[in-house]
Amino acid sequence: MASNYAGLLADKLESDGDKRQARMIRERLARAPAALASAQDAAHGFSFSNLPTDGESHLHTVDVSTPSLDKGSLLLPSAVENRIQEFLANIRRYDDLARVGAAMPSRLLAYGPPGTGKTKLARYIAGHLELPLLTVRCDTLVSSLLGQTSRNLRRVFEYSQQRPCVLFLDEFDALAGARGNERDVGELQRVVIALLQNIDAIPESTILVAATNHDQLLDPAIWRRFSFRIPMAEPDLALRRMLWKQYLEPFSAEQLDLDVLAQLSDGITGANIEQVCLDTKRGAVLSNASSVDENQLIRRLGLNLALTGGRVLSTVESEVRWLNGWAPKYFSLRTLGRLYDLSTRQITKILKEETSSGPQEHARATAVECEG
Ligand SMILES: Nc1ncnc2c1ncn2[C@@H]1O[C@H](COP(=O)(O)OP(=O)(O)OP(=O)(O)O)[C@@H](O)[C@H]1O
Ligand SMILES: [Mg+2]
Repeated sequence: MASNYAGLLADKLESDGDKRQARMIRERLARAPAALASAQDAAHGFSFSNLPTDGESHLHTVDVSTPSLDKGSLLLPSAVENRIQEFLANIRRYDDLARVGAAMPSRLLAYGPPGTGKTKLARYIAGHLELPLLTVRCDTLVSSLLGQTSRNLRRVFEYSQQRPCVLFLDEFDALAGARGNERDVGELQRVVIALLQNIDAIPESTILVAATNHDQLLDPAIWRRFSFRIPMAEPDLALRRMLWKQYLEPFSAEQLDLDVLAQLSDGITGANIEQVCLDTKRGAVLSNASSVDENQLIRRLGLNLALTGGRVLSTVESEVRWLNGWAPKYFSLRTLGRLYDLSTRQITKILKEETSSGPQEHARATAVECEG
């Protein structure tokens, strides 16, 4: 009831023109236990409506979702995980911290290569706070019309003030990146300035999360606005092991050597591990197998590594040669024959053939043949 009355009071204050007080009450409610906040919403039938649109394309610039935490957890190095927990605590205990002048603006910037879990992190944060996630793909904000980008930005920030939420600016560099390639330099500076102004205009307790693959493109002034900066990197050995385990489920890890998988997948992102696991699981189900074939899994991993390394393997022959060269221990003539439904002799022939990548592969093929 207290929360319902607080919500009513906020509405009343707002309609009387006291937006500041109304906002303060709503922010306080946002940090109240989730049950209170949703009771408030239910009482008012409140939902986000009238999504902002780009004046030029008329497409929505914001997407509203309510992430849940049940799908595969986010696996991060402990130092990063701790920092994220500090960010969440800073939001939950904002008032207590503010009282002694120790509250930090609730703004987090995640940066790192593609597929390292930045978008998943935003969902994780919204899920933990039990708040809706307002996702803004920043590239959709960038308009070719003069002044439209800044207008789009302002609408998005204003929109985020309607009710408690996590405002997530994805592909954040699109705004900063636009500075390099626009015709009109004045327009670029205006976008960055507009971004700074919008960030400064929202209360420090507004939860703002931004993600970028290109942190070096960001303007230093924008960089400074984020009190929590989270580097998202490719997973190390121990994390890769956990990622393999998580994404191979419900197939048991007992028949698979996770240590081998973790070692072989050095340099790969969480997204690629997930992809390889999904493909392998799909293969197992479609061929009515009760377990995951380790060789198939390592084969998919090898092909994924080749692809991310920019190697085009367009024929069975090139795949066979690559796998044998990459992890000869796991791709003997017999295994390759079984995987590709070819005879050992055919595999030997393929491995012997001269390739553009040269004598190294050839030498290895001969060695394997001798072993066989
Ligand atoms: N550390 C991780 N823990 C768990 N899952 C992960 C991790 N990193 C990546 N993934 C998985 O990889 C997929 C891609 O992650 P996500 O979209 O969050 O990456 P991203 O960093 O936002 O990439 P991009 O820069 O391309 O947008 C997700 O489905 C996620 O489940
Ligand atoms: Mg992303």
